[in-house]
Amino acid sequence: MHHSIQHLIETRTSINHFQPNRPLQEDEMITLVDLATKAPTAYNMQNWRFIAAQSEEAKTRLKAAAFGQQKIVDASIAFIICGKLAEHQQLHKTLQASVNAHIIEQHVADAWVLQAASAHESNEQLQRDEAMRSASLAAMTLMLAAQDMGLASCAIGGFDAIEVARQFSLAPNELPALVVVVGYPAAHNWQQKIRKPLKEILTVI
Ligand SMILES: Cc1cc2nc3c(=O)[nH]c(=O)nc-3n(C[C@H](O)[C@H](O)[C@H](O)COP(=O)(O)O)c2cc1C
Repeated sequence: MHHSIQHLIETRTSINHFQPNRPLQEDEMITLVDLATKAPTAYNMQNWRFIAAQSEEAKTRLKAAAFGQQKIVDASIAFIICGKLAEHQQLHKTLQASVNAHIIEQHVADAWVLQAASAHESNEQLQRDEAMRSASLAAMTLMLAAQDMGLASCAIGGFDAIEVARQFSLAPNELPALVVVVGYPAAHNWQQKIRKPLKEILTVI
């Protein structure tokens, strides 16, 4: 079942209540992450890692690190979407696939590697910004993909990042940027909330 992107954007809501005990099929989980990775990243750096918490045990540990938010356990899967620092150091290797597929030329890849190194190497703030940007774009893409698959989702930023890193053995260069829970909605969820009028938030120049 495929909907227009406009319909998906207009109907996606941040779901509070999920039907518990409704696991996703392995191929549905794989499709969600595969589609999320179609989100763009700077230089196609793909500075992210996805942890799919689907066992009761893993979701319970994540819930404890997320101030007891019950939806983490009730949802079918809680994705911990990590942005990675210093991933420009892998860019040469990462871009090789696009060079081999004749999508970009070697000299373009080489130039991007140099450019990324000079911008990122001694700029930890930029590495962090880029990690959060990439993870956020992946999270939104994953939520829209879930919506298209008839599933519901919620982005969750309310967690103790240090505790999540400890519980799930994240590497020192991995930042848990967002948790996205995906599953089947229960009754009595809110509708999509009201957005500010465009005249307040849009500047046309
Ligand atoms: C970065 C971010 C962090 C959020 N953290 C939480 C959270 O910890 N718990 C929660 O229930 N909802 C969380 N939300 C969901 C927001 O409350 C929700 O997106 C907002 O109220 C708009 O809802 P709507 O999209 O259904 O209109 C978060 C959303 C974002 C984008």
